[in-house]
Amino acid sequence: MENYSYIFQGTAFTSKSKKEIYILKDYLFCIDDQGIIKKVVAPDDPLYSSFIHEYEGKDNFHRLEKGQYILPGFVDLHVHAPQWAQSGTALDIPLNDWLHTYTFPLEAKYSDIHFAEKVYDDLVTKLLANGTTTALYFATIHKESSYLLAEICAKKGQRGLVGKVVADDPEQNPEYYRDQDSQTALAETEEFILAVKELAKTTKQGVYPVVTPRFIPSCSEEVLKGLGELAAKYDTHIQSHCSESDWEHNFVKERFGKNDAFALHDFGLLRDKSVMAHGNFLEEEDVELFAKTGTAIGHCPLSNAYFANAVIPIAHFSSKGVDIGLGTDISAGATPSLYDNAKQAVVSSRMLEDGVDATLPAEKRGTPNSRITINEAFYLATAGGGESLSLPIGRLEENYAWDVQIIDTEEEGNRLPIFDETEKLYDIFQKIMYLVKPVNIKEVWVQGEKVHGY
Ligand code: GUN
Ligand code: FE
Repeated sequence: MENYSYIFQGTAFTSKSKKEIYILKDYLFCIDDQGIIKKVVAPDDPLYSSFIHEYEGKDNFHRLEKGQYILPGFVDLHVHAPQWAQSGTALDIPLNDWLHTYTFPLEAKYSDIHFAEKVYDDLVTKLLANGTTTALYFATIHKESSYLLAEICAKKGQRGLVGKVVADDPEQNPEYYRDQDSQTALAETEEFILAVKELAKTTKQGVYPVVTPRFIPSCSEEVLKGLGELAAKYDTHIQSHCSESDWEHNFVKERFGKNDAFALHDFGLLRDKSVMAHGNFLEEEDVELFAKTGTAIGHCPLSNAYFANAVIPIAHFSSKGVDIGLGTDISAGATPSLYDNAKQAVVSSRMLEDGVDATLPAEKRGTPNSRITINEAFYLATAGGGESLSLPIGRLEENYAWDVQIIDTEEEGNRLPIFDETEKLYDIFQKIMYLVKPVNIKEVWVQGEKVHGY
C-alpha cells in the first residue's frame, strides 16, 4: 500500500455533470505529498477495509464527525482585491460613473504598500474563511502592491491568480490613476509576470501571473496588442471585462465597429486560459467565439444586479458549450461569499425565466428555459471554475488537487435545519448550499494543506 500523506473518511458532494451531483457516502480520499487526490475508495470496494485497518488511529487519518461533509473548495473567477475596502458601499450609480467617482480614487491608494498590505491580508483570509480556495484577482495598476497580493496568497496558501491591472488611455483614465504610457505598462507587466513565476516556485499550491487589461475602454490599441503578445509569450492566463453593461458593450462597438468579444480576439486576448468577466450582452457569434477559443465567462450575478442593466441568459450560454464559472466581483458584488453568488445565480435565472413586469401577461413576461438549478450553480462555483482556468481543481476525483471545505451542519453558531436522522443526503446538500455561513466552514484545505480551521 502506498504511503499517503492524509486519508480522509467522510461523505462528500461533487459534480457528476453540470446538472447532477455525486453523493460519495462514507468514502475514503487518499492524498499524496503533492496534495493530489491519488485514490478515491468507495465503501463497497474490497480495498476499503484494508485502508481503514492500515490508517485508522494514525495522525494522518481524518474521519469526519457526525454532521460534517466535504465540498470542493470554491473557485472565485472575478475579484477586484483593492475594492474590498469599499465593499458594501457605492452601489448607487451606473458603471462608468461608479468607476470615476468611487473606484479609481480608491484604487489609486494602492501606491501605498502599507495600505495595500492591510486590505489584501484581510481579504485573502476572508475569502479562505468563506471556502474560496482559488481566486482570480485584479489588483491595481501598481506593480509592487500587485506583487504583494501574490505574496500574501503564497504565504496564506491560497491558489491566487493575480493581475497587475493595465489602464493606459489618457482619454479614459484620470491622470492620478493610469499607467504612465503603453510602453511602461507593457514593461511592468512583463516584470510582474517574471516575478510571480519566480514566486510560484516557492509555493505548493501555485500562484499565477495574469495578463489584465482592465477592459477595452481603458486601454490603447498598442497596449492591447502588446498584452496579447505577452500572454502568448509566457503562456499566462488573461482576464478582462467583456460586454458587461449597455454602456461598455456599446462603447466598444462604436470604437471598433464590432462586438467586444471580436475586438478582444483581434488583440490575441481570447485564449484557452482567458476568463472574461460578465459577458451579459454576448451575442450568438460572440458565444461561439468564446467556445471556439476556450474563453470562459466569469459569471457575477450579484454585481450584475447593480451594474449589468440586464440578466445574462446563463442557461443558454451554458448549452452552447462555453466554460463558465462564478465570481463575486468584489466590490460591485458586495459579498466575499460564492455561496451568496450561487444562490443569486439561481434567483436571477428564475426571474429571467418568469420575467419581472407584472403588468404583462404571464406568457409574454419572461424568457423560457432560462432557469438554472442549485446543482448547476454549485457546478459553476467548483468544476466550472476549474475548467475555466484549465486547472485540475473543483472536483473530488483522482488526480485533482485536495482543495476542500469541511462543512459542519451541527455547528452551534448556525445549526442547519436537519431534524430527521434519515434526511436524504441530497436534501442536506441543498441546505448546505442555501444556508451555510462562514461559521459552518470548519476547515479549508488547499493542495493538501490546511489553510483555515478552528
Ligand atoms: N469594468 C471595468 N472596471 C470594472 C470594475 O472594477 N468592476 C466592474 N464590475 N466592471 C468594471
Ligand atoms: Fe469586475
